[in-house]
Amino acid sequence: MRDVPALFRLINFYAEQRLLLPRSLADLCESVEDFFVGAERGRVVAGGALKLYDNDVAEIRSLCVEPGLKNSGLGRALTGRLLSEAERRGLKTVFALTVAPEFFFKCRFQEAPRENFPLKIWRDCLLCPKFFQCDEKTVAFDLTAERAVNSTLPAEAAAVPAVSAFR
Ligand SMILES: CC(C)(COP(=O)(O)OP(=O)(O)OC[C@H]1O[C@@H](n2cnc3c(N)ncnc32)[C@H](O)[C@@H]1OP(=O)(O)O)[C@@H](O)C(=O)NCCC(=O)NCCS
Repeated sequence: MRDVPALFRLINFYAEQRLLLPRSLADLCESVEDFFVGAERGRVVAGGALKLYDNDVAEIRSLCVEPGLKNSGLGRALTGRLLSEAERRGLKTVFALTVAPEFFFKCRFQEAPRENFPLKIWRDCLLCPKFFQCDEKTVAFDLTAERAVNSTLPAEAAAVPAVSAFR
């Protein structure tokens, strides 16, 4: 819970630029267990959540890196950490709705039809002010395909020197 204020500031900083959806303090407190954060000397510098939908599917939400640390591999490492968690839970697919699809393509996600994720549409999209003019793309990572070819997930957290740990 002590990470919530920093997550709140970081997420809503990007929400003001319409890059992320805003999250309330109450919402973050309720869903804090979904989050992994990157910390530098105890200070939260990145965060992202893995929201579970059912036995097979989860969504990466609110993925963000502190402005001064962008493009240093932190976003990819955090995405890798979230995918490892999805793998540990035996999920099949991890998706995201994003204004930065190119970043996710670099993490080996592929564009996917949003209709593949009807629970997302019912849970969030229908309540979203962007619904009729959505600028987000849907991207998905197929964990079953990764298992089939026995390859590694996109990133290793240890490869990011700026961050001491993901927690
Ligand atoms: C998007 C974000 C999480 C990426 O994190 P990051 O630490 O800056 O990204 P990385 O350094 O791990 O980049 C990995 C690769 O993606 C590319 N990339 C990063 N952000 C990108 C973007 N917005 N558009 C296109 N490519 C991007 C990098 O150039 C890098 O490519 P390379 O492997 O060829 O060098 C971060 O920039 C951010 O917080 N953006 C604001 C919030 C946001 O837009 N979130 C969207 C996710 S829902």
